[in-house]
Amino acid sequence: MNKEKVIELTITFVRQELSGEGSGHDWWHIYRVTEMTKTIAQEEGADQFICTMAALLHDLADEKVAGSEEKGLATVREWLTKQEIPLDQQGEIIEIIQTISFKGGHGKELTSIEAQVVQDADRLDAIGAIGIARCFTFGGSKGHLMHDPEEKPKEQMTEEEYRKRNGTAVNHFYEKLLKLKDLMNTSTGKELAKERHRFMQDFLEQFYAEWDGRR
Ligand code: ADP
Ligand code: NI
Repeated sequence: MNKEKVIELTITFVRQELSGEGSGHDWWHIYRVTEMTKTIAQEEGADQFICTMAALLHDLADEKVAGSEEKGLATVREWLTKQEIPLDQQGEIIEIIQTISFKGGHGKELTSIEAQVVQDADRLDAIGAIGIARCFTFGGSKGHLMHDPEEKPKEQMTEEEYRKRNGTAVNHFYEKLLKLKDLMNTSTGKELAKERHRFMQDFLEQFYAEWDGRR
């Protein structure tokens, strides 16, 4: 198996699988998560191949993308086998994909440094400037209001409630985005999250000032 070739082929495969994807898991999300993954993996001494492959494939098993998690995982397994990736490495990649999703904070515990790296990279893409942009894009695509001062955020939710929620984009900051900083795994992730967290707090402060006509 030629790792570089496999990564190249996987990029083409994922781009094709995600074409037309509109739930916030488009190719460019994968691109950003993969680049961030490489940077964090380098600093944390994690396996670059496992991390890169998991980052590239991480959203193919998302139920919003694949229809169901089982169906998505089967597609990923089939792909990894076709690339002649050794079974133990396949297992590591699949394990990462299965464990990193947020699910309202109800995710499973992570078993490897590689999983920690990819989860941090995925979460970093939900905060900071990109995170803010994704949040309002998501809300807009669902027809949600960007803000309603009379609707308070609901900070404790079951996985089911989180998935079904029709809340405003601003409430999503309190329900997910502002929690992510304290959920980072690696020290590199924590450092980056801190900067992006501060940026979101500044954004909200300015947003409320403008909302109420303050100067
Ligand atoms: P992930 O794949 O990172 O676990 P999701 O599938 O939950 O994330 O969401 C994709 C993107 O849409 C993320 O940036 C997330 O913050 C945003 N998003 C998810 N749910 C909402 C919501 N109810 N309101 C606004 N943005 C949301
Ligand atoms: Ni993702």
